[in-house]
Amino acid sequence: MGNLLAGKKGIISGALNSESIAWKVAERCVEEGAQIVLTNAPVAMRMGEINGLAEKCNAPVIGADATSLEDLEQLFTKSMEHFGGKFDFALHSIGMSVNVRKGKAYTDLNYDWMQKTYDVSAISFHKMMQTMWKLDAINDWGSVVGLSYIAAQRVFPDYSEMAESKALLESIARSFGYHYGTAKKVRVNTISQSPTMTTAGQGIKGFMDFFNYADKMSPLGNASAEGCANYCVMLFSDLSRFVTMQNLYHDGGFSSMGMSPALIEQ
Ligand SMILES: NC(=O)c1ccc[n+]([C@@H]2O[C@H](COP(=O)([O-])OP(=O)(O)OC[C@H]3O[C@@H](n4cnc5c(N)ncnc54)[C@H](O)[C@@H]3O)[C@@H](O)[C@H]2O)c1
Repeated sequence: MGNLLAGKKGIISGALNSESIAWKVAERCVEEGAQIVLTNAPVAMRMGEINGLAEKCNAPVIGADATSLEDLEQLFTKSMEHFGGKFDFALHSIGMSVNVRKGKAYTDLNYDWMQKTYDVSAISFHKMMQTMWKLDAINDWGSVVGLSYIAAQRVFPDYSEMAESKALLESIARSFGYHYGTAKKVRVNTISQSPTMTTAGQGIKGFMDFFNYADKMSPLGNASAEGCANYCVMLFSDLSRFVTMQNLYHDGGFSSMGMSPALIEQ
């Protein structure tokens, strides 16, 4: 389409299938001229769908469990070998709640599972950045993006422990954003995305209800995965060089709403 990312190189995590937000981000980045490396957990890669995306994007797939420092070190080292040097951007598009998956109520959480949820959904963001930092893997003026949800600020009961995961993710973006900014001019942001029909999204109980509710509540309607991919492209591009340490709502206006006459009518 364009060349907003011409000459740029980046890592895209989290493309599980064609519904995944990361899938759309990968496609859009390549359309805008970027070279990418795809990564996902080995267990997700075994499902095989990512290979079709890899072919389309002319990108290697390097497996990495984002909770494993060893895997991450290998991912970024191999990526730099592939690119012939450092890269410019990275997307963290990873989330999973063990308690939600196993149907545990928020008032009856298993704390070992909760730790695992935090590790996969939030601490992995820190682990990715710390590993890239130690390897000096990102070029100056690079950009790192994580994907969040408004349950970090407001209560969505069925989102359970993922709410705390997202609060932690957003905090890590601010804290690491300070260090990466002062040392390397690298910016770090999270995008707070509308409910989106993906495997992770639909794993939340009552997802369709709050998808429809948010769609009605938002003046622009829910933001799509494709829209989110466009926003990621903008954040990876040089057009957003001074945006950092922000949680950026990409939600059709949902986060600013108090009440909606359309919903009251219903
Ligand atoms: N779908 C929504 O409604 C919605 C809304 C706001 C934010 N988000 C966030 O967007 C991000 C992407 O989710 P999605 O909706 O595209 O769903 P998705 O299920 O397509 O993607 C989640 C990805 O996380 C990966 N993953 C899980 N454990 C991992 C691990 N240990 N190491 C590496 N990767 C691992 C999965 O393999 C999968 O590719 C998540 O952070 C999610 O919380 C989603």
